[in-house]
Amino acid sequence: MTNVPLLDLGPQNRALEAQFETAFRDVLRSNMFIMGPRLEAFEKDCAAFLGVKHALGVSSGTDALLLALMALDIGEGDEVLLPSFTFFATAGSVARLGATPVWVDVNPHHFNIDLTDAARKVGPRTRAIMPVHLFGQSGDLDALEAFAAAHKIRVIEDAAQSMGARWKGRSTMSSGDFGATSFFPSKNLGGMGDSGLVTTQDDALAERARILRVHGMQPKYFHREVGANFRMDPLQAALLHIKLPHLPEYNCARAGNANFYHAALKGRAGIAENRPGADKAAKLLLPVDFSGQGIWNQFTLRVPGGRRLRDLLPDPPASSAVLRRPELPRRRQRTRRRAAFRRSPQRPDLPRAQRRTTPVGRRLARRFRGGEG
Ligand SMILES: Cc1ncc(COP(=O)(O)O)c(C=O)c1O
Repeated sequence: MTNVPLLDLGPQNRALEAQFETAFRDVLRSNMFIMGPRLEAFEKDCAAFLGVKHALGVSSGTDALLLALMALDIGEGDEVLLPSFTFFATAGSVARLGATPVWVDVNPHHFNIDLTDAARKVGPRTRAIMPVHLFGQSGDLDALEAFAAAHKIRVIEDAAQSMGARWKGRSTMSSGDFGATSFFPSKNLGGMGDSGLVTTQDDALAERARILRVHGMQPKYFHREVGANFRMDPLQAALLHIKLPHLPEYNCARAGNANFYHAALKGRAGIAENRPGADKAAKLLLPVDFSGQGIWNQFTLRVPGGRRLRDLLPDPPASSAVLRRPELPRRRQRTRRRAAFRRSPQRPDLPRAQRRTTPVGRRLARRFRGGEG
């Protein structure tokens, strides 16, 4: 049996190889290696694709979050609500500015931030909420906006895993104050190195972010404030620009894979969909696209009852990754957690989704097809 890799970028990139080579040659011959018209053209098309007023190419998804937080003046003494189940960068960017990440539970069915728990965690120092549209599925943008308005706080959407996902026709990264995404190679729009994008509908915030992206500089060599080097390379922009029109097709292909796994797995003994009220005896819970417009960045299974997928399938037919919340296991973490998130007043709770289950990403269809496993 062949092992299915977790991700194979070869076919996607090989199909565009000739165009990449031309773009590389053009950039090489232009001698323009920092920002410039190639980056601007890419940003313009990203903004049109997402339905936003401003899009700024930046050095990574992490820097996109950092830049958005800096442009909102979030720092020492401020608290930011974010999900306890996400990639480290969401909380790391908050902590790096001296602000405090406040962990909020996630919904156990779609893993997006639970606004009921968020309401319990809001305090006088809360300045912002950072919803994470995890695994390619948009959270409820209407509810997020209403929540932020009710509590008079800012919204930074962490859409690193969800570029192209929609909520009732609206794109992620188009609501709130800022959106941030990543072009890390495994994302649905994956670059050939690191880079990311910041979006906003607000002219003043866009201007501030543009200045902070280049060390707070405007005009040249006049530094209004301390920013950083958050620039995206024009070569990266040129390569991504070639891939951008193909993003809907990449998203469709991932949805096709998800449909395939659903068809192969649904209805088998011990397997149910991860919906409220799912069969308690199920050994494996399949992901559900509740928004109906997700982009399936990952096909994430839950293994309930404290079991581990390894125990269910000692010899898995596919590569996998176990996804964890952004910290280290309790026993080993004491000193290291203190170093990473020493300002957090909370001991981050184990998210509800993980108290009884272990979310994992794994391609299993082959094993289950034909009654194996
Ligand atoms: C949810 C989330 N936020 C932020 C990031 C950071 O993006 P980057 O790796 O481009 O810095 C990632 C990357 O995997 C992510 O998944």
